[in-house]
Amino acid sequence: MNQTYINELKNHIGEEVTLKGWLYNTRSSGKLVFLQLRDGTGIVQCVVFKPNDEQLFESAKSLGQESSIIVNGKVKEDTRSSIGVELDVTGLEIIQNATEYPITPKEHGTEFLMDNRHLWIRSKKQHAVLSVRHTVVKATRDFFDENGFILADTPIFTPAACEGTTTLFEVDYFDDDKAYLTQSGQLYNEATAAAFGKSYAFGPVFRAEKSKTRRHLTEFWMVEPEMAFAQLPDVMNLGESLIKFIVKRVLDERRNELTVLERDVTKLEAILESDFPRVHYDEAVKILKEGFAKGELENDFEWGGDFGAPDETYISKQFDQPVFVHHFPAVIKAFYFERDAERPELALGADLLAPEGYGEIIGGGERAFDLDFLEKQIEAHNLPKESFEWYLDLRRFGAVPHAGFGMGIERCVAWMCGIEHVRETIPFPRLLTRLNP
Ligand code: 4AD
Ligand code: MG
Repeated sequence: MNQTYINELKNHIGEEVTLKGWLYNTRSSGKLVFLQLRDGTGIVQCVVFKPNDEQLFESAKSLGQESSIIVNGKVKEDTRSSIGVELDVTGLEIIQNATEYPITPKEHGTEFLMDNRHLWIRSKKQHAVLSVRHTVVKATRDFFDENGFILADTPIFTPAACEGTTTLFEVDYFDDDKAYLTQSGQLYNEATAAAFGKSYAFGPVFRAEKSKTRRHLTEFWMVEPEMAFAQLPDVMNLGESLIKFIVKRVLDERRNELTVLERDVTKLEAILESDFPRVHYDEAVKILKEGFAKGELENDFEWGGDFGAPDETYISKQFDQPVFVHHFPAVIKAFYFERDAERPELALGADLLAPEGYGEIIGGGERAFDLDFLEKQIEAHNLPKESFEWYLDLRRFGAVPHAGFGMGIERCVAWMCGIEHVRETIPFPRLLTRLNP
């Protein structure tokens, strides 16, 4: 295949190359047409000079936005260009001249852009966000692979809930059976951790979230590590190492994208500089109550409640670093949490709250060890015991203290990119009111 990619052009200065791609934008002035060509790896300005070839000049001028083309030309150093080069065009082959591309350089509303998501992902900003996503995913995999975790993916069709029955998607399975789309692979991870010591799952999970917030998708990707012979502090240590690993990788490899996104990278660089604070739930409640007393929070917070988005933002603002909140009241948590030995009303769970208002990006903790206790929990949460028998086997045969967490990839990407809403961090988002395209 005779094709040079735009991100390699700097190594070809002075050479004749063939570029294949799509027309991002055009501009002409007098005897010149400037084609902004994109090929997925970058955008380069291709210059067509009328006196060189009038016919070529006319066809270049006739091209619509997003036309597919093959361009031949000579690579020229250009210090004004962000990629350091441009192309002097000597030949142009039109594969398809596109007309009336719906997304023009003018401003469009979000709903319109979301309806055209299949095309919108070609634009600079979306391209940057999804490139960062790629790097976050790759870094995440590398982190676990390099730290002795075995990838053991978990099923999407499941017989029962993991994270509470209110957000379950039900689907018809054969012969009047019902299945549920998984909310988390955790229960299965507990089985694979007992097989491998350290395991992780990484895949899509589903939540019938009736909330229309900037942090919620109905289908999102979660990475979930699980460790045998591990406890709550191990969860926080692992989560902190993972986040720092990701931040460093994104800073190393995605500077250009962060620039396109106008991300304040000093905020990300600061993450690497210090330890993440760890705050007991009691302490977090105190912070919220003080915030309310100072008039900095609209609502007072009662011990025992779950944090809302403004609460999470307020807590994280006090630290300017990602902060772990741990030891939540068990009543607001899922059935499987281990309890604090001295204060059994507390669950040995920890959430990591990202700075800058990005909210909870990691949730996890230590799993209940005791068979009787778990049986009672399953009953108390109105879960069908027969579907959990296999899970209870993990307590019957070689039970050990074990722990793990889940990190939502989209929330992590939104934070890295500094963008408002998680819907732009996945190629085709699924939301309460969106199933298309
Ligand atoms: O806190 P969650 O619900 O934890 C679990 O599911 C555990 N079973 C994970 C485990 O311990 N293995 O979800 C974990 C993370 C959250 O911190 C958040 O980042 C993300 O998943 N998340 C969502 N992301 C996008 N849209 C939603 N609706 C999300 N719900 C949770
Ligand atoms: Mg959570």
